[in-house]
Amino acid sequence: MRLKDKKILVGITGSIAAYKTPLLIRLLKKEGALVQVIVTPNAKDFVTPLTLSTLSGNPVFSDFFNPIDGSWNSHVEMGRWADLFVIAPASAATLSKMAYGLCDNLLTTTYLSAKCPVFFAPAMDLDMFAHPSTTENILKLVSRGNKLIEAQTGELASGLCGAGRMEEPEVILEKIVDFFSKHETMLNRQVLITAGPTFEAIDPVRFIGNHSTGKMGFAIAEALAERGAKIVLISGPVNLTIQHSNIQLIRVHSALEMYEESIKYFAESHLAILAAAVADYRPSAVSATKIKKNGGNMQIELEPTTDILKSLGANKKNQFLMGFALETDHELENAQTKLIAKNCDAIVLNSMKDKGAGFGSDTNKITILGRTHNPVTFDLKTKKEVAEDICNYLEDKIIG
Ligand code: CTP
Repeated sequence: MRLKDKKILVGITGSIAAYKTPLLIRLLKKEGALVQVIVTPNAKDFVTPLTLSTLSGNPVFSDFFNPIDGSWNSHVEMGRWADLFVIAPASAATLSKMAYGLCDNLLTTTYLSAKCPVFFAPAMDLDMFAHPSTTENILKLVSRGNKLIEAQTGELASGLCGAGRMEEPEVILEKIVDFFSKHETMLNRQVLITAGPTFEAIDPVRFIGNHSTGKMGFAIAEALAERGAKIVLISGPVNLTIQHSNIQLIRVHSALEMYEESIKYFAESHLAILAAAVADYRPSAVSATKIKKNGGNMQIELEPTTDILKSLGANKKNQFLMGFALETDHELENAQTKLIAKNCDAIVLNSMKDKGAGFGSDTNKITILGRTHNPVTFDLKTKKEVAEDICNYLEDKIIG
């Protein structure tokens, strides 16, 4: 029983795919989970509360009040009770309500007050699924840390064929099992992560920066948070957001601010991963007013910033310290030099020569160098998958 005593809240919305959810409930129960079910008013047209209560072994909730005794069905309590909330199927209407915080029924209200991880499995007709507003809502939900169980392509209830089919209950079950099996491996580990670029001011409107988007650092933060770690994520200016109860996001601008925040949290960390592309130099003086052009050349004097990774390496006690190295040539040699010079336990090497690796892209190709093993090279993967590889490596080194 892979889900023994895990408390799973199952949300069902008004979509024909609701006919598959009783099977999901049965599979969850077979794995030992405790299951409670919330349905939207429309879901009851597709699947009966009697079926659901029989399979889950619990009353099924749909209304704010019990019409018989007038008692209140507490969405707050259900949201807090659950270790995981899975909304399957998630209709287009419910997705948009979730994305915009519209809570007009017990399910959406519970979603808004839930503290646990939320999985959602979209199901709808292909045109609704392909509509830009649905795409936007899904992206919004994912960017806030909700876990998307991707819709599949196939025959739909309308008779049309395309994307929008809810994932099969067996696959949803495996995703949930997988989540819990990873979930506890890093429980109570305190992790410091830096991500993104830093911007070094020249004057009130200009800065020196770089093309880092923060995607790699954010993906690592999310992957570790899902394994139970508590993360302080210190990020330079990026367009990303993250919402996970295990992640505290601190936004900074400059290398100095990133250094100050990193030093603050390092002592209490078990593990630090410095994925930020920190500026090595900043203007020696920042003009208080906008610098005017004068027709001729101009020079800006730069001074070095503090090397955050090197400082943490010098102050390290029992922490495991992982740095990154972005190289264009002599990659392994340069990364090896950084590993030693900055007193790291491991370095994740990116080579600019590898297609699909580095800044901005959704993929990455890494080699991990450590002190006690030969470099390990991974295939080109999505940054999410790379983050999982890094977590597996860290788990192996830290927990054994
Ligand atoms: N780093 C840091 N603080 C800095 C510069 C770099 O913490 N001021 C960290 C990065 O977050 C990364 C590692 O050091 O984990 C290596 O960064 P990289 O830019 O590849 O190397 P540098 O040490 O800056 O050396 P160079 O730019 O000369 O290659």
